[in-house]
Amino acid sequence: MIDTDAFRAALGRFASGITIVTARDAKGRDHGMTVSAFCSLSLEPAMVLVSIGHEASMHGLMMRAEHVGISVLSTAQEALSRRFADPETDRFDGVGYTRGENGVALLDDALVHLECDVVARHEAGDHTIIVCAVDRTEAYDGRPLLYYRGGYAQLER
Ligand SMILES: Cc1cc2nc3c(=O)[nH]c(=O)nc-3n(C[C@H](O)[C@H](O)[C@H](O)COP(=O)(O)O)c2cc1C
Repeated sequence: MIDTDAFRAALGRFASGITIVTARDAKGRDHGMTVSAFCSLSLEPAMVLVSIGHEASMHGLMMRAEHVGISVLSTAQEALSRRFADPETDRFDGVGYTRGENGVALLDDALVHLECDVVARHEAGDHTIIVCAVDRTEAYDGRPLLYYRGGYAQLER
């Protein structure tokens, strides 16, 4: 068994972008959460993965959802990253978004929007890997919000 803090400290040195993953429940309500465990997976067909912790309140929905939206956050969206990881708030209250053709919420002012269909799920320790086929992408001008060693960061140039 390796030490959890040492593991965290090691993985925290892998800089990542930040996404908000969204899905709708059976009643059409929007749900979303902050996810940095996002990875490109396949070019043809276009696929990505996100990894969702079993403890996340959205985990149950992610086990059922057919469609998922992924918004890659831009530099000015640190507050959204915090908000969509905060259990106390109504996460979508006052947040601008559009709907993809498959109905998922895609957050305004993001750097990238991906509209996805879930095609596979794999259990891995305390997370579930959600494999998504990408149906549509929109990429916008801007700079990415980064996460590094437990804090937010920006590209210097
Ligand atoms: C920067 C950042 C990155 C995160 N990345 C992930 C992730 O990749 N997978 C995950 O399951 N949770 C991740 N989380 C945590 C979830 O966003 C958070 O646990 C969840 O939104 C809490 O929701 P709940 O209170 O509704 O369970 C991340 C949080 C932050 C702040």
